[in-house]
Amino acid sequence: MGNNLITTAIYPGTFDPITHGHTDIVSRAAMVFDRLIVDIAASTGKKTVFSADERVTLAAEILSTYDNVEVRCFDGLIVNFAREIEATVILRGLRAVSDFEYEFQLAGMNRKLMPEADTVFMPTSEKFTYISSSLVREISSLGGDISDFVHPRIRDALAERLETR
Ligand code: COA
Repeated sequence: MGNNLITTAIYPGTFDPITHGHTDIVSRAAMVFDRLIVDIAASTGKKTVFSADERVTLAAEILSTYDNVEVRCFDGLIVNFAREIEATVILRGLRAVSDFEYEFQLAGMNRKLMPEADTVFMPTSEKFTYISSSLVREISSLGGDISDFVHPRIRDALAERLETR
């Protein structure tokens, strides 16, 4: 067909904080899509340890090596932001079968709201399937070592944040 269309994917999430599991998805997706926008949800109903601005700053720092990856923040529907940035793919990482039901529902609803976009699921690498941001936060708050799960910058930011609580 030979067209010059650029495929933009949006990778939405809470990212409180960004972990190696997320970075693994980003690094692989950056090779698949022309442009990848990591969409940090400002308010998701979850009580976050880091503010939206802090989550953006931390993620942007860690992902700065990827030329085609941008970190943005959005407060509202994923599909509205996807339209704004002209994304046609909503990217989600899958860790386990237990993720599937919720993700399938989310994908169906997003497709209903934005038929011109589609959800693409990427399997999380095996070594990161058991990671979640809340477990990482819990381990850190109880003095455990989270070096295997997050970037050193995140490890230090979490330790500092949880210490001052
Ligand atoms: N590796 C490791 N962990 C991962 C991961 C990966 N690849 N991908 C996700 N996770 C973890 C996260 O750390 C998070 O852990 P936690 O629950 O312990 O904090 C968990 O999986 C799920 O997080 P996330 O991917 O951020 O999704 P979410 O369920 O918090 O939902 C949005 C976030 C942004 C997708 C959702 O709230 C949303 O859609 N908001 C916008 C409003 C909207 O459009 N609503 C209508 C939807 S139809």
